[in-house]
Amino acid sequence: MPGPLFHGLTPEEEALARSYFLRQAYPKGKPVFHQRDLGQALYLVERGRVRLFRTHLGGQEKTLGYVGPGEIFGEMSLLDGSERSASALAEEEALLPVLRRGAYLALIRRLPLIAHNLARLLAHRLREADLELDLMAFEEAKSRVAYALLKLLRQGMGPKIRARQQELAALAGASRETVTRALQELKAQGAVRLAPGEVEVPSPALPEEVAFGLV
Ligand code: CMP
Repeated sequence: MPGPLFHGLTPEEEALARSYFLRQAYPKGKPVFHQRDLGQALYLVERGRVRLFRTHLGGQEKTLGYVGPGEIFGEMSLLDGSERSASALAEEEALLPVLRRGAYLALIRRLPLIAHNLARLLAHRLREADLELDLMAFEEAKSRVAYALLKLLRQGMGPKIRARQQELAALAGASRETVTRALQELKAQGAVRLAPGEVEVPSPALPEEVAFGLV
């Protein structure tokens, strides 16, 4: 399946686009880059899972999300030449072909659709970031935890999500204690089932309603 970067390309064009990438393998636990690094390259996830996170002054981490096969990350510094906005870490052994700036510029001259796909992807992320801003500003912790679960579901983790409370806390922007409390509330509402180290979401509809304050 073509990823969002290759959307609308013919198989021949996609093969041509892929030839501009350099293949790179990362063992589990290896950082791809750190927040504030300089680096002008984007990565395509061919295999594995990468966590994107920001570190605050006190060392606390906020997980922005996870990227899996077919998805890309690192496009922001590629496009504007500024520092990395977040850190990236291989959560599993990963294959991450990399596209450097020079290769990107040559590629979009041959296949301008790639630049449009990248713009569309950024628009989509901005919409998500706007939504999360609403959740942080107007909704209680339970909504943020429900939204974190939805994010994991969308990233192919569901319906049984194996996540430590610490991971959920980093994704929801809440403390572990708050996550524990929020999960109990979600359980009482029938939105989740809890087992040790595991959260089961029987249907994404209910957490979605909780996240957006509908129930
Ligand atoms: P870059 O700034 O080059 O490096 C960090 C990457 O994290 C960034 O590019 C994006 O690919 C990704 N990223 C930044 N902010 C978000 C976000 N809010 N949600 C998902 N991914 C993000």
